[in-house]
Amino acid sequence: MKKIERITIVGSGLMGHGIAQVFLGYPSFHVTLYDTVQAMLDAAPGKIRANLQSMGVLGSDLSNLRLTTSLSDAVSNADIVIEAIPEKLELKQNLFVEIEKLARPDCIFASNTSVIPITAIGEKLADKSRMVGTHWWNPPFMIPLVEVIQTVHTNSEVITACMELLSSVGKTPVHVKKDVPGFVANRLQHALWREAIALVEDEVCDAATVDLCIRNSFGLRLSVLAPLENADLVGLELTEDIHRVVLPALSTAKEPSPLLRQLMNQGRKGWSTNSGFYDWTEESKAELRKKLIERLTLLAPKPAEKSKELVNK
Ligand SMILES: NC(=O)c1ccc[n+]([C@@H]2O[C@H](COP(=O)([O-])OP(=O)(O)OC[C@H]3O[C@@H](n4cnc5c(N)ncnc54)[C@H](O)[C@@H]3O)[C@@H](O)[C@H]2O)c1
Repeated sequence: MKKIERITIVGSGLMGHGIAQVFLGYPSFHVTLYDTVQAMLDAAPGKIRANLQSMGVLGSDLSNLRLTTSLSDAVSNADIVIEAIPEKLELKQNLFVEIEKLARPDCIFASNTSVIPITAIGEKLADKSRMVGTHWWNPPFMIPLVEVIQTVHTNSEVITACMELLSSVGKTPVHVKKDVPGFVANRLQHALWREAIALVEDEVCDAATVDLCIRNSFGLRLSVLAPLENADLVGLELTEDIHRVVLPALSTAKEPSPLLRQLMNQGRKGWSTNSGFYDWTEESKAELRKKLIERLTLLAPKPAEKSKELVNK
């Protein structure tokens, strides 16, 4: 497979500019950001500089970044296209059909969808063997995990190339061998959210108590003692005994909790309305954002030294 040097990110929003930022730290990559909205492209360099600054990296040389609103210009010579446009199946399907007309036959097509099966996104392609999922996490320049999702059509060389590319920029890629909705990490995350919401819905406790319990118990351990390691630590017999009692009592809801719709009908939509499970102010949101960046800066691998040298110029 051709060495990946020319990387095109489609969609310059929250995820797109952050994914671009990761590759921009390495001068060997030529990074192109494509968006249909000129203002999103214009804003991207400033956002990347601000991200770097919040991580304590001062100055920035983004000379290996190209911005364009021409799809043909963006993809015609790309080695890989990483799509980060809104989470709408038809939009993504149609985009890749257009890209297939313009890109080289050996160009890899990657989608950053959160939960849509990759098979569905690549369904209308003539060559489905180049379609893969690369699921990054927000903020992509701080969270190490990227899930590399294989469909029944994906060429194994495409998987290898993506795994190597992501490792080379300091990410922790994992190979997801089956294209299941939510892949691995979002399935785990939302299994927990389903139970968290069910506990509030069933009036076992309030939202703050749910979060307090997580934050002050297993949440403290998770980054060093993950669930399956923990199962070994306590022993599989105890795990079995606990599951025998607790699993039948857990939520098995197949639909989103009605509590979500109830809150939204009251105008409590989350941060956008300053209310959801909690009440928020601009100050409390800013404080939480700051805390999160500080914690992630402490825990996440630092940007590559090469990247630092480059941006400190
Ligand atoms: N936000 C997250 O935390 C997160 C995390 C992981 C994955 N994702 C996934 O990443 C994708 C992007 O999410 P986001 O939060 O960055 O969205 P966003 O709304 O911030 O950005 C989307 C960008 O795509 C552009 N766009 C829309 N249609 C386009 C088209 N046809 N061609 C080119 N550009 C187009 C928009 O102008 C916008 O700049 C989604 O699939 C989302 O589910 C999001």
